[in-house]
Amino acid sequence: APQPGSASSSPHQPTVIICIGMAGSGKTTFMQRLNSHIHTVKAPGYVVNLDPAVAQLPFGANIDIRDTVNYKEVMKQYNLGPNGGILTALNLFTTKFDQVLNLIDKRAPTLDYILLDTPGQIEIFTWSASGTIITDTLAATYPTVVAYIVDTPRSTSPATFMSNMLYAVSILYKTKLPFVLVFNKTDVVDHAFAVEWMTDFEAFQAALEDDESYMGGLVGSMCLVLEEFYKGIRVAGVSAMTGHGVDDFFEKIAEARTEYETEY
Ligand code: GTP
Repeated sequence: APQPGSASSSPHQPTVIICIGMAGSGKTTFMQRLNSHIHTVKAPGYVVNLDPAVAQLPFGANIDIRDTVNYKEVMKQYNLGPNGGILTALNLFTTKFDQVLNLIDKRAPTLDYILLDTPGQIEIFTWSASGTIITDTLAATYPTVVAYIVDTPRSTSPATFMSNMLYAVSILYKTKLPFVLVFNKTDVVDHAFAVEWMTDFEAFQAALEDDESYMGGLVGSMCLVLEEFYKGIRVAGVSAMTGHGVDDFFEKIAEARTEYETEY
């Protein structure tokens, strides 16, 4: 776990942004957008790709897990399926994470951001020892925040929305890091409905009751959990495709960093 005060004692430290999201949420496109944004505003950044199975990265990564491990070879060698291959590749990479950290440490004084892209299969990062080691190691040294990417057009049904939010809660409680909820693809569907559901409990209840998969009491209890979660959460609506909302996202990241510095 992060050591209290360890991050704020040094003069200049970059903010680590760990991008986590369900497959297809637009994580890679979002990373590309962040990358081009920091170039535009001349904020030096460092990009780490932790997805061994990504076929093509639309941005240059400073550190790429694919340079160290070939997950298809790993699958063959250990007789694994794709998910086992990705997990094992991440584990092998994590055994060398001290070297990665050395590289980052050397560059850190000149950097504003360190961006981490995580595997497309979200649970490989969020529920593995490797994911925890990488997250905790970075968070012990640098102000670290989690950006949880939501596929907004695919979250418009209240039941799906709630599932996605509960997943976000589980990641928040696992990492215990400041959190920015990123509603992506707002060029397709505006995230205003999500903001309404997060701030107006009754509006969400009403939407749920109209949903055919409504499960009464259980849902009511989960809503109470979510209400608590929403209170402390930062929300940004973005379009990774058009770049809309990215300035606001970085403002939320700055707030999250302040939270890290005061609480960790
Ligand atoms: P995995 O690698 O499978 O985890 O996918 P990913 O989460 O990295 O998503 P990716 O960036 O590959 O995007 C998934 C799909 O969503 C692609 O077809 C993108 O073009 C599309 N997409 C991503 N961001 C946006 C957006 O802001 N607006 C729209 N309209 N489409 C988007």
